[in-house]
Amino acid sequence: MTIYLCGFMGCGKSTVGKKLAAQLDLPFVDMDAYIEECAGMTIPEIFEQYGEPHFRNLETQAIRELAGRDGIIACGGGAMLREENAKIAAAHGTVVYLEVPFHICYYRIADSDRPIVRRSTREELAQLYDAREELYRRHSTHIVDASHTPAAAAAAIRSTLGLGESE
Ligand code: S3P
Repeated sequence: MTIYLCGFMGCGKSTVGKKLAAQLDLPFVDMDAYIEECAGMTIPEIFEQYGEPHFRNLETQAIRELAGRDGIIACGGGAMLREENAKIAAAHGTVVYLEVPFHICYYRIADSDRPIVRRSTREELAQLYDAREELYRRHSTHIVDASHTPAAAAAAIRSTLGLGESE
C-alpha cells in the first residue's frame, strides 16, 4: 500500500506521515530528504545553486523513482502541483491532501529556512496558498482535516481510508 501525503508547507505531512507509517507498520519516506540525499545537497542549496526549476525536475525524478514502493510518502509542498507528478502518484497509490488553514501553516513555517518562505512576504505566501489549494484538491483522492494534532490527523486518514481506528 502506498499513501502520498500532500498539502501546503507546514501542514504536517512529515509529522503525520511518520506517525501513520508507525501505526500501519509501513516504511516512511520523506521526499524532500530523499531528494537531498540523492543530490548530496540541502534544498536551500539546490535552490540557491541551480534554481527552482531544477529542484522541480529533481522532484519529478524522485516521484518516478519512488513509484511502486510500499509506504507513506510525505511529498514536498509543491510536488503534487505538476500534472505529471500527480498522475504518477495516482497510478501507484492514494493521494491524501492534509488540509490546514493558512494561518496555522504560516505560524509553523515563518522562521524556517525553506527557500520559498525566505523569499516571500506573508501576503505572498497567503496568495500562493490560495492558488495551490485548488490544485491540491484536484490532485488528491481524499481530503483530511489536519488542523488539530498529528494523532488526530493520522486517525482521520485511517478512518477515511478504512484502515481501522487503533492507536
Ligand atoms: C516546497 C515545499 C518544501 C520543499 C521545497 C519547496 C514548496 O517541502 O519541497 O522547499 O514548493 O511548497 P515541505 O512542504 O515539506 O516544506
